[in-house]
Amino acid sequence: MNSQSAFVDAISNAATGPDAAEKVAARLEKFIADWGGPPPWIDSIESGAIDFLYNDDDLTIVHIVWPPHLITEPHNHSMWAAIGLYQGRENNILWRRNDTSIEPCGAKTIVAGEACWFDKDAIHSVHNPVDGLTGAIHVYGGDFLNANNVEWDQLTLTERPRNIAVQQAKFANS
Ligand SMILES: [Fe+2]
Repeated sequence: MNSQSAFVDAISNAATGPDAAEKVAARLEKFIADWGGPPPWIDSIESGAIDFLYNDDDLTIVHIVWPPHLITEPHNHSMWAAIGLYQGRENNILWRRNDTSIEPCGAKTIVAGEACWFDKDAIHSVHNPVDGLTGAIHVYGGDFLNANNVEWDQLTLTERPRNIAVQQAKFANS
């Protein structure tokens, strides 16, 4: 289970049925416990990045390295998501739609060694609150690259399409 392809196979096998997100999160937690750090097919992590490990119509697996203190816009993936951390922390603010835009409705924080999942309607903004890099595997229950992802402007909370290439550049250049 130390190769990237074996990892992708194991996650794909778990990503089935109505409880796919929960099963993938549990499997991510197990892998991360076994790794005890970054995935074994990666020598080291040195800077922010969003790297796609796998993508098809039903599943997308992403390795994400968060630069210190980076925060994302509130966004919705339009598909379930399972998130596991092997280093650092992710602080999530949870939002819900209201008549005109969105409003905060909760928070969730996860730390290295933990995994969580969100359903397809979840809206979150994510912050790496630590001085160092945060390392994570994010798994999405669909074609993340071609979905109708939306985000909300940080200041005005105006909805707009989410551009993944813009996010990749933001992570790489922070
Ligand atoms: Fe997200």
